[in-house]
Amino acid sequence: MTTSTKTEKRHFRADRLAASLGYGSRQEVSLEIRRGALSVGGKKITDPSQKIAANECRACSWYGEALDPLPPLTALLHKPSGYVCTHTDEDEPRIPSVFDLLPPRWRFRNPRMAIAGRLDADTTGLVILSDDGDFVHRLTSPKSRDNTGKTYLVTLADPLKGGEKALFESGTLFLNGERTPLLPAEMEVIDEQTIRLTLFEGRYHQVKRMFAATGNRVTALHREKVGPFTLEGMATEGAWRVF
Ligand code: URA
Repeated sequence: MTTSTKTEKRHFRADRLAASLGYGSRQEVSLEIRRGALSVGGKKITDPSQKIAANECRACSWYGEALDPLPPLTALLHKPSGYVCTHTDEDEPRIPSVFDLLPPRWRFRNPRMAIAGRLDADTTGLVILSDDGDFVHRLTSPKSRDNTGKTYLVTLADPLKGGEKALFESGTLFLNGERTPLLPAEMEVIDEQTIRLTLFEGRYHQVKRMFAATGNRVTALHREKVGPFTLEGMATEGAWRVF
């Protein structure tokens, strides 16, 4: 039996299903279901314990809107500057989070939406969110054959000195305080202060620290690509789409 056939054969209690998709706590969604929030094929379900088959979920609606997809759910987002890549909590001082740009219930899905390679708050560009842990791992693990790199457009404060490309591509650069050298990166010079850099690992503030190691400073950083994924069709900051 294929995985998709197995998935289609699964059944979910209506309240567990809605809660796992982030529509509310079990108690909250039970109340909403009793009030008629959930329909299957246009027919209201008012018993929260009613079983729904996985293949019926595509025909479900929540207050008239299509119910969110079951896992696996993957989304691509064009991150603007000023947003952090964490699930900031309602109680924390409000630092805008990339989750503020997506349907609010996605913060509460179970399994959780993880980010395949976080960006700093001041970095713009492609962020991939997914509740499929294997997919995220395949895309980001330096050991994975599917990790075809993350590509950044880098703007520098000062002109290049000349040795940066050889250094970054050598696999011998140690960042401050680290015990293993960086994996070889790929660097394309666009002009003396603009670079396209592809990394095959994701260390903390890696691009900024690489240029800091050469005595330079990154003034703008934009991620163009993660593996095979790009910002195609998402030119505007804040745009997102389900993959
Ligand atoms: N490297 C950085 O320094 N910052 C990012 O946001 C991503 C890679």
